[in-house]
Amino acid sequence: MSNPNETIIENTKKFVKQKLENAEAGHDYHHVLRVLKLSEKIAEKEGGNLFVVRLGALLHDIADAKFHQGDETVGPRIAREFLKMQNAPEQIINHIVKIIENISFKNSLEEPEFTSKELQIIQDADRLDAIGAIGIARAFVYGGYKNNPIYNPDLKPNQNLDKETYKKGNTTTINHFYEKLLKLKDLMNTHTGRLLAVDRHRFMQEFLEQFYKEWEM
Ligand code: ADP
Ligand code: NI
Repeated sequence: MSNPNETIIENTKKFVKQKLENAEAGHDYHHVLRVLKLSEKIAEKEGGNLFVVRLGALLHDIADAKFHQGDETVGPRIAREFLKMQNAPEQIINHIVKIIENISFKNSLEEPEFTSKELQIIQDADRLDAIGAIGIARAFVYGGYKNNPIYNPDLKPNQNLDKETYKKGNTTTINHFYEKLLKLKDLMNTHTGRLLAVDRHRFMQEFLEQFYKEWEM
């Protein structure tokens, strides 16, 4: 007989893949699979309930508020309904919902209401996928989706973004590096996350140096 937790994980993968079929390229099923893999890698070192880590990673972007007119209740609701249908234990469902509600960078611009080891692990994994070569690619995909300029030397980065301004996303993609991406290394929750961030952070700095070199030639 197959392990019921494994069955739920397999069903969740299918569900998420189908839900994110037409998602913007930076938040698609491949992003979810990368976050799943990174979360598992971090959990291997940091501990945490692996079932919660895997489910949370799979469901963390099930309905990102920025693609639902800013409505932050859609994702948690869809996840809860899906997990109920899978007969997942109530306690696990509540934990996953809390993870989805609290994982986002914009929510870290305000006081956190909830934390857990599993949330910290998935949040680190999600942030690692926002930096490095993949992070750069995703930032430009998102900037293109918003029709933002690549760079404008007259527009200085806004270092003290509040949540509402951040959500509007009206910035140049190069400024987004200063407003978010270069800060992520120091916002890592776990030791393993911090270690994994070093190389990716360095690569973004090199990218920016080369970018300005070409711009100013
Ligand atoms: P979170 O889900 O942690 O709140 P976001 O959804 O804001 O984070 O970011 C997800 C991805 O979209 C990241 O790769 C991030 O860099 C990118 N992104 C978000 N806002 C912008 C922006 N204004 N310009 C370019 N990329 C952005
Ligand atoms: Ni994500």
